[in-house]
Amino acid sequence: MSAVRALQALVDDDPEAARRAVSGDTSLLGSALAQHLDRQLDGQRSGSVYDAPAAFEAFIRGGGNVQLYDATRAALAAAYDAEQPAAVLDVGCGDGTALVPALRAARHHPDRVDVVEPSEPLLEAALSELRAWRVHPWPTTVQEFLTRLDEDDDAPAGWGVVQSTFALHTLPHAERTEVLRALLPRTGRLAVVEFDVPQVPVGSPEHLEFLARTYEQGLAEYDDDRELVAQGFLMPVLTGQLRPGAVRATFEQPAQAWAEQVRSAGFADVEVTALDDYWSSPAFLLTARGGAPLWRGPATPWSPTPRTAPPTP
Ligand SMILES: C[S@@+](CC[C@H](N)C(=O)[O-])C[C@H]1O[C@@H](n2cnc3c(N)ncnc32)[C@H](O)[C@@H]1O
Repeated sequence: MSAVRALQALVDDDPEAARRAVSGDTSLLGSALAQHLDRQLDGQRSGSVYDAPAAFEAFIRGGGNVQLYDATRAALAAAYDAEQPAAVLDVGCGDGTALVPALRAARHHPDRVDVVEPSEPLLEAALSELRAWRVHPWPTTVQEFLTRLDEDDDAPAGWGVVQSTFALHTLPHAERTEVLRALLPRTGRLAVVEFDVPQVPVGSPEHLEFLARTYEQGLAEYDDDRELVAQGFLMPVLTGQLRPGAVRATFEQPAQAWAEQVRSAGFADVEVTALDDYWSSPAFLLTARGGAPLWRGPATPWSPTPRTAPPTP
């Protein structure tokens, strides 16, 4: 398959060979890769896919993301109802597509919501939807946020629920462990939603075949927005994880490795629950107990089962 050959050429840091491999390839992935590589070979370098997030926003509002985000919101709302947190922290909240409907759907409303988000346009979009809550925005990375916390008189001692949906995978593995360790004493319950990617070596033939097959499927889920989603989000994410020195948006790992990483950072009661059979890889909810005894009362057992009729705020 020519797309697999192109991906291999990117692993070998040979974008010209990658472009040649997809010449005349009429598959969705082949055509999208060809267009992306043409732009790169023309010297159009891309920054973070979240800096100018129109493509990311179109991506999460279409295709399998609709069902994925429904399941995510339901799981988060169930966590709020179970833990009754006085305060919630969302790490990498994006435009609030997971957070905001979860807050609306829950019966329990936290008194305070802290949102950490380095992309200015995404944070602004989230804040515009969060007016009904007492929100503390942190317009920065989670690493920087953690260094500022001790100096901020207004910061709470911790949060009953610390959540992160599809955002911790943007951190390199070692940095993620440091972030989790720093969050531990400030976290009541951790709720992370991520993808259970296959246990194959990055850049191996199995990995490249897996990427080619799943990205073809992902692209097929978009129609009018396909070019925007492909060029502004999916192709930079795909090639960024393969080409040496490229801007990398994802550092993913299998669910088992996520659980081990969270455990090794000091969290207890780590549980992984399947959430959605998403096209790129199955999504899961990971919950764990941190070091902060911040929930209000005995929690009722909860599960990520979708609620049928979420109340409006
Ligand atoms: C795939 S998006 C997920 C956004 C949102 N949580 C959601 O579920 O839609 C990844 C988010 O992580 C943010 N991000 C990237 N690097 C980050 C960092 N170092 N600290 C905190 N957030 C980060 C991005 O700006 C982006 O909003």
